Amino acid sequence: MVKKAKLYLNKKFKIAKTDKRLYGSFVEHLGRAVYSGIYEPGHPRADEDGFRDDVIELIKELKVPVVRYPGGNFVSAYNWEDGVGLVEERPERLELAWRSIETNEFGLNEFINWAKKAGTEPMMAINLGTRGIDAARNIIEYTNHPGGSYWSNLRKEHGYEKPHQIKTWCLGNEMDGPWQIGHKTAEEYGRLAEETAKVMKLVDPSIELVVCGSSHSSMPSFAEWEATVLSNTYEHVDYISMHEYLGNRENNLANYLAKMDRVDDFIKSVIAICDYVKARKKSDKTIYISFDEWNVWYHSNEQDKRVKPWSKAPALLEDIYTFEDALVVGLFLITLLKHADRVKIACLAQLVNVIAPIMTREGGSVWKQTIYYPYYHASRYGRGTVLQPVIETPVYNTDKYKGVKMLETVGVLSDDETELTIFAVNRNQDSPTELDCSLNNMSGLELLEHIVLEHDEIKASNSEEKPDNVKPHSNGKTRVNENRILAELPALSWNVIRLKLKK
Ligand code: AHR
Repeated sequence: MVKKAKLYLNKKFKIAKTDKRLYGSFVEHLGRAVYSGIYEPGHPRADEDGFRDDVIELIKELKVPVVRYPGGNFVSAYNWEDGVGLVEERPERLELAWRSIETNEFGLNEFINWAKKAGTEPMMAINLGTRGIDAARNIIEYTNHPGGSYWSNLRKEHGYEKPHQIKTWCLGNEMDGPWQIGHKTAEEYGRLAEETAKVMKLVDPSIELVVCGSSHSSMPSFAEWEATVLSNTYEHVDYISMHEYLGNRENNLANYLAKMDRVDDFIKSVIAICDYVKARKKSDKTIYISFDEWNVWYHSNEQDKRVKPWSKAPALLEDIYTFEDALVVGLFLITLLKHADRVKIACLAQLVNVIAPIMTREGGSVWKQTIYYPYYHASRYGRGTVLQPVIETPVYNTDKYKGVKMLETVGVLSDDETELTIFAVNRNQDSPTELDCSLNNMSGLELLEHIVLEHDEIKASNSEEKPDNVKPHSNGKTRVNENRILAELPALSWNVIRLKLKK
């Protein structure tokens, strides 16, 4: 039986304007993300710098605004100096986070060149695991200072006359995690991050800094960690990071789709902690969220245990995503949009080969994973002003989650107010949902397109041989009647309803 749900949107009821960096991503020196991912000299589609232009084409299609680099866990034992200067003189190193060999053939300047070609901006992480204040002040002098000092002159000698002007910097990575090289207590990290932030902003006061929050919501130190770290760093940083990966190990779809509600709670808690510290400090400043690692990650966990250590660019974290994962990624994007007033940066982790929407074969082709599509739609059509959705929907209960909304949805109004896009996931496994939307004070509505991602097999995936097994169509059923629309959302589907409206 068809279920019914209602959505009310009003142009005047706004959550916030989206920051373009909400659709960021992440490239780590891990597995085949860099080598044979974005960089593969000798590949038929490699350009003069060795960058794969078939991969760049897809990244441009995704309009990825910002890419975090070079890690991740990798950064916590990384010497950035190893990756600059003459390639022939760069050292090969044991890479300890993922137990591989790092050739350093690709480094900071290659990344900046690549980012320019891919039409994206860099977001750099610094090593606060094995290193600290000194290396941080040096790297920012190298990248951002115009010239006339040791490190900025060295950049010029390396062929980069103008500074790279990198705006956003992460103060380490997941420093709360015992697996992290140079792991610290909240107090130790908070003090180090504070002092590092100070020197970095002395070199370049125009930068923005992201301090490490918890690695995920179930960390035992969660909440206390954020409060302590922010107490130390509040006046020196601009964002606190959040990371969360979801998975369906127990193979229970109802639970899997419900997990997003916990992510929503996680975001609300981090906002509450930021504002608690703000109140305690009697500060006028608001700390924003950089959700700089989010995705589904679990498929490759077992196979990764069998990977031989100390090889170059081994296949690691190569999750093959299913249709149900695409629904979870769609839910994630809707949740991020609903928090657009506080979440300003978010990075789908990662971009190529490593838990990624884009896959490549070494020497071969490139293809889109299932999760590519919701990310693509949100990045393309989810920019503008997020409207406050009022939703009436049936709910479901599972052994672990109660009152889960069958329908999750949000609307985004374009900056020129001539287009409204409604994103919706129907979590109902058995029946379509008829969505009745009252679009108050919006006139002249016309349907541009109702895109649907649906599939008969929940575990369907794409591969090099079958790249289009899971892909969206534009035959969604939506009727427009003045300022009301009626849309049929198939059971288990991701929907993008694009409407034209009069200003
Ligand atoms: O994205 C893969 C890894 O997940 C990152 O290196 C780390 O920050 C997180 O634990």
